Amino acid sequence: MAKKGRVFSGIRPTGRAHLGNYLGAIQNYVALQDEYDCVYCIVDIHALTTVEDTVNLKQNTYEMALDLLAAGIRPEETILFVQSHVPQVMELHTLLSMVTPLGKLTDLPTFKEKARQQPHNVNYGLVGYPVLMTADIVLYKTDIVPVGIDQAPHIEFAREVVRSFNYRYNTKVLIEPDMKNTEVPKVLGIDGKEKMSKSLDNHIELALTPEETRQRVMMMVTDPQRMKRTDPGNPDICNVFSLHKIFTPKEDVDMINTECRRAGIGCVDCKKRFAENLNKALEPFRAKRAELASRPDQVVAILEDGARRARLIAEKTMAEVREAVQLP
Ligand code: TRP
Repeated sequence: MAKKGRVFSGIRPTGRAHLGNYLGAIQNYVALQDEYDCVYCIVDIHALTTVEDTVNLKQNTYEMALDLLAAGIRPEETILFVQSHVPQVMELHTLLSMVTPLGKLTDLPTFKEKARQQPHNVNYGLVGYPVLMTADIVLYKTDIVPVGIDQAPHIEFAREVVRSFNYRYNTKVLIEPDMKNTEVPKVLGIDGKEKMSKSLDNHIELALTPEETRQRVMMMVTDPQRMKRTDPGNPDICNVFSLHKIFTPKEDVDMINTECRRAGIGCVDCKKRFAENLNKALEPFRAKRAELASRPDQVVAILEDGARRARLIAEKTMAEVREAVQLP
């Protein structure tokens, strides 16, 4: 079947993926493979803008690759690769930087936030983060970029850079990408308040053992207004219930919904059931992940093959770009 166009997305090598990564991004990456020609990149160079100690960079990149493959990324059709394995992206980044006004970069909310978080390390690469991201996207002539809503300013920025580049060099080689929001609804952490994230340590990793998962789930904050077991609860404001809706069979969800409201089921019980259902849902993922992890050479070979296929596309685009810029 002919595919509808090309999808590209980058994912930072933060180590093992958690439930928020899965529901917010990875699940969509997997689904998009049915309709689009997909390119997924683990962005190790972007990681260097915030990570100073790189001892874990290789391992984190490998763990992320395992999670993506175990979740259903199909490396025979989809290109899965590591950003630094295709150095053309850094060349394109430099050329795009010449049509990027500095003030636009320093005005971006994402930059300001990072500069606030790491005032001792406001490096040049951090300012250029969105330019490198633009290079990632346009190097593969991408039509659609699936990302969370927090990345929307970066996609808008990429579109502007593409227009400036094409205008300055009187060319059409670069394509303006469209964004596809992958993040509905937002997944909260076990605190029930903040978005799930590793840095807040409120996350549940997909690759935990069933027992570790159960322990994490039992720490989850439920309806904050329900104080005693005999108080009726409100599933509408309970983070555990919102996850039940994703991982628990429909009849059980209906039962929990009714029983919680009349204090027929307590939060401890409700969380135990959730842990069981979550573990059950993650079983195939975990089996596949363990199988892949037992053959690390094969995973390395998959990433190498992905990089080789990515370089073919990248080199073709770069030949056009160098020509458009009239590099001697
Ligand atoms: N900035 C993205 C993030 O933080 C990661 C990323 C890098 C990306 N390059 C990309 C996403 C290209 C989409 C397309 O999640």
